Amino acid sequence: MNKGLDVRKAITDRFGDELRFFRGWIDQPKAVGSIIPTSSVTARRMASVIDTGSGLPVLEVGPGTGVITRAILAHGVKPENLYAVEYSPDFVKHLRECYPGVNVIEGDAFNLDETLGAGAPQLFDSVVSGVPLLNFPVAARVSYLESLLRRIPGGRPVVQLTYGPKSPIPPGQGDYTVEHFDFIIRNIPPTRLWVYRRASH
Ligand SMILES: C[S@@+](CC[C@H](N)C(=O)[O-])C[C@H]1O[C@@H](n2cnc3c(N)ncnc32)[C@H](O)[C@@H]1O
Repeated sequence: MNKGLDVRKAITDRFGDELRFFRGWIDQPKAVGSIIPTSSVTARRMASVIDTGSGLPVLEVGPGTGVITRAILAHGVKPENLYAVEYSPDFVKHLRECYPGVNVIEGDAFNLDETLGAGAPQLFDSVVSGVPLLNFPVAARVSYLESLLRRIPGGRPVVQLTYGPKSPIPPGQGDYTVEHFDFIIRNIPPTRLWVYRRASH
């Protein structure tokens, strides 16, 4: 085989997700919110909040090219028990190819009633969110969180990543608690994880 083609294939195999992600960022910088995917260290830490013994499915929001999806499956969630809501049609196509069996749903996570529809489960164990919340107004972030918390049992977590120093969803704006979960330096850029739970349950 042509050596140039070999090299190009090797680069695409190794950096395919990164290139796809970067193209997604060029098309939709505000929605994608980062130029490279989350690190596997961060992805594993986010997946660690899931209770695989609960018997409930898991909701992932903003999976992108699927780094966190992979970590959720590795944590022990069966593909058919994972519902992943993604806005970008290109990422949706890629996710469906790479993660057969996962329920990849194309649509807007800020309008989950319509996006999940009547066919999806009403209750999830927990939510793993990679949506770049800092690019949305605070009121939209709060109502996003409240719509996620309505879909999980009281006390169970919504875990959210962010690149800012503070929680992207401020405390005191609704019926939820805010907990700093981790700061992960092995991520570009370094990222903070926040956990939100319903305050009264
Ligand atoms: C910062 S990227 C994170 C991707 C991946 N989870 C990761 O960590 O590498 C944000 C992802 O959220 C998706 N997204 C942004 N707004 C969304 C929305 N309203 N509904 C669903 N997905 C959205 C983007 O298309 C993108 O895939």
